[in-house]
Amino acid sequence: MADCVICRCEEVVLSDIVQALEDGYSTHREIKLKTRAGMGICQGRTCRPLLDQIITSISNEAMPKRVGLVQNVPIRPITLGDLAKGKVGDHES
Ligand code: FES
Repeated sequence: MADCVICRCEEVVLSDIVQALEDGYSTHREIKLKTRAGMGICQGRTCRPLLDQIITSISNEAMPKRVGLVQNVPIRPITLGDLAKGKVGDHES
């Protein structure tokens, strides 16, 4: 059976998640740190619901006991010059 991509940003497949669970990593945070799933450019916006569902179903642990992955807003670096001029992103403030 072909492996299924769960986190496309970090190219993490289902077997990576299952292997991490079998190796004793049990919380969402542990799985994230072990596999890097959810640490890509979208910061888990795409894969987080899938990860939550997979981890909860395989570990047979109820969702309320777990702390889901935290979504972080992607940031983009700006130069100090742009900051001093009031340029933030594509807009001037
Ligand atoms: S799909 Fe997982 S971090 Fe983007």
